Amino acid sequence: MKKSTQCVHSGTYFDEKSGGVNTPIFTSTAYTYNDAASISYPRYFNTINQEVVAQKIAALERGEAALIFSSGMAATMTALLGVLEAGDHLILQNDIYGGTHYAVSEQLSKIGIESTFVEGRKVEDFEKAIKPNSKAIFIETPSNPLLLLVDIAEMANFAKENNLISVIDNTFGTPIFQNPLRLGIDIVIHSGTKYLAGHSDLSCGAVVTSQKMIEKIHHVAFNFGGNLDSMATSLLERSLKTLAIRVKTQAQNAQKIAETLQKLPQIKKVFYPGLESHPDHEIAKKQMKDGFGAMLSFELDTDAEGRAKFVRHLELICKALSLGGVESTLTEPSLTSHSKIPADMRKRMGITDNLYRLSVGIEDADDLIEDLTNAIQTL
Ligand SMILES: Cc1ncc(COP(=O)(O)O)c(C=O)c1O
Repeated sequence: MKKSTQCVHSGTYFDEKSGGVNTPIFTSTAYTYNDAASISYPRYFNTINQEVVAQKIAALERGEAALIFSSGMAATMTALLGVLEAGDHLILQNDIYGGTHYAVSEQLSKIGIESTFVEGRKVEDFEKAIKPNSKAIFIETPSNPLLLLVDIAEMANFAKENNLISVIDNTFGTPIFQNPLRLGIDIVIHSGTKYLAGHSDLSCGAVVTSQKMIEKIHHVAFNFGGNLDSMATSLLERSLKTLAIRVKTQAQNAQKIAETLQKLPQIKKVFYPGLESHPDHEIAKKQMKDGFGAMLSFELDTDAEGRAKFVRHLELICKALSLGGVESTLTEPSLTSHSKIPADMRKRMGITDNLYRLSVGIEDADDLIEDLTNAIQTL
């Protein structure tokens, strides 16, 4: 099946009694049982509502199995704890989601798991960080907020050659544009709070991998919890039915906006993998299909007064954290996600005070362009 069809049909549970076309919401936390092995319980991640959504996401990511969590961080930390143990070493890309950076640095060291953050995004950069106890690598592409890419297939090969488990955060890529498991990656993680849920009203996460690997991760999940309840799982199932049409529209809008912005004299730079001017456009064409995602960043040629004016004059696009919703939202990375990084390092990374990150929604592209150009023209 094609992905749009899978979004609608994969995993749906058909209720014979009612004949309803949607999976019913099973609210029970207590289930009758015959033997210990077949007991259903939400924290065992095996209720019908959890399983059908896991099947849909696994199908979309081309994986054998998935687990659904209550947040992206629950998914990330459970997956890492599923494959790492005390004494192991993890190598991570430096420009990953700040929360993952923080959680790995703060929590994994406490239980004797070492980590190294690598400045570059190339295999050679990771190669230099390998130690005898290295066990896994962690990448995120496109990255936040500059939308820089990692060559997924190259990184997966490097991991295999060195007997390392490869983990990717595919939140920005979405299962519609990018399937890292097909490119040789072992474990895919999502903050489902973003595109999978897609309406800025639901916190969830997912891990997709092989059956063998999911069993290890399930063992940790079962002990730590972090499961999603039936109501929320049902909302996620409903959201996923429109995932393909939502993100394709969002990506088309993003492409149009990026092309328009790069022509404006008040704009210094536009970062969008779909632009030919993007430094990683060739990698994007190789590993992304049907669109280049719906996140873009741009740098205004202005000062503090101009920045305040620009944001004040936006009428449709609101300033809000998080991303991936149907509504377009804007953030200032230097004041939000990257505010804890010292100013000189931020500058070296290319994250200036004039940089804005736009999560493009499903509104009409012309309305979004008008809103942005009106605000930019006040500078
Ligand atoms: C790329 C990425 N990964 C993971 C997370 C963590 O997800 P959650 O907030 O759902 O725990 C986020 C949250 O912003 C994110 O942007």
